[in-house]
Amino acid sequence: MEYKAIKLLKRPQNEITADIFETVTLQTPALEKDQFLVKQTHMSLDPAMRTWMDDNDDSYVEPVAVGDVMRSFGVGEIVESKNDNYPVGSRVLGMTGWAEYVLGGDDMQIVPLELPVEALLCVMYVPGLTAYLGLMEIARPKAGETLVVSGAAGSVGSLAGQIGKAEGLRVIGIAGSDEKCEWLEQELGFDKAINYKTADLEAEISAAAPHGVDVYFENTGGPVQQVVFNHMNRFGRIAVCGMISDYNREEPAPGPSWKQINLKALRVEGFVILDHYDKIPQMTEALGGYLAKGQLKYRIHKLHGLDSAIDGVNLLFSGNNKGKLVVEL
Ligand SMILES: NC(=O)c1ccc[n+]([C@@H]2O[C@H](COP(=O)([O-])OP(=O)(O)OC[C@H]3O[C@@H](n4cnc5c(N)ncnc54)[C@H](OP(=O)(O)O)[C@@H]3O)[C@@H](O)[C@H]2O)c1
Repeated sequence: MEYKAIKLLKRPQNEITADIFETVTLQTPALEKDQFLVKQTHMSLDPAMRTWMDDNDDSYVEPVAVGDVMRSFGVGEIVESKNDNYPVGSRVLGMTGWAEYVLGGDDMQIVPLELPVEALLCVMYVPGLTAYLGLMEIARPKAGETLVVSGAAGSVGSLAGQIGKAEGLRVIGIAGSDEKCEWLEQELGFDKAINYKTADLEAEISAAAPHGVDVYFENTGGPVQQVVFNHMNRFGRIAVCGMISDYNREEPAPGPSWKQINLKALRVEGFVILDHYDKIPQMTEALGGYLAKGQLKYRIHKLHGLDSAIDGVNLLFSGNNKGKLVVEL
């Protein structure tokens, strides 16, 4: 059977442009023993893809090789199988790639068909796991503390803030539009949301966190970082989840001075969800608990058709995605 896939033709110079990809038509292979074929139904687009396109030798994963199908997470259904552990009709999630069909591997996880695929992609998989890990395992907040989340209206940030509310924190979100800020305050229950593109950030954070910031969930880096950093309390914790404002830049933005890390005894800790897969069962259970209590709301931004990924991935960098960015195939 023929299917479409998208290969990385060359590495991007700063922004992602359409000419770095090539859409090709491939043939599904005849299955060998233990193999199974997955028809991808939902392909996740994530900011990390931009870092996977670079020729980094200091990252947590190998770069995508030029000429290879672009890497991604995704969800699909098994349509052919020679593996008893992966029967036809099962829904699986895992590393799929920008392709309509994928040869399954034993790193793929079977997921219940009853769970809506939106809840799976938006909460129970990478966004929820990352938000939970960063806040609860890395930052380890105490009820009553003040949390600031950058990239707060995104798929990870919106969950980190809501988990913070569920755990009794005062939560301040920083996002890039008035619409996103209204969603955070009115729908998700953030105590305050600040539009970093239009607000006097220094004044707004001083007003919203008069007693300082105990925990900073860092998704963006850039100018927001310095302002929040200056408001950290002694023994504050910064969970460094992502640096999206640096991904398209040749040189990263200058960071804050380490003097305050020393004087305020701050703990600054980076993390990558792929290093913590052993904690998936406990984290999934915790996320399921918040969901069941109605404490986590989410929104999904769907694109349609494989080729929509090529331009669509840039919505993450322009801020024009509203919620978890997914391509429906
Ligand atoms: N550590 C891990 O294991 C892990 C796992 C998943 C994701 N992440 C990281 O978490 C962060 C959020 O990812 P996500 O999947 O939840 O994406 P997302 O927040 O759903 O989408 C990206 C958002 O980032 C904001 N943004 C883009 N460029 C920006 C800039 N220059 N300055 C400030 N904000 C900018 C935009 O929102 P605005 O409109 O608010 O600007 C955009 O909507 C990323 O840094 C990502 O790499 C880390």
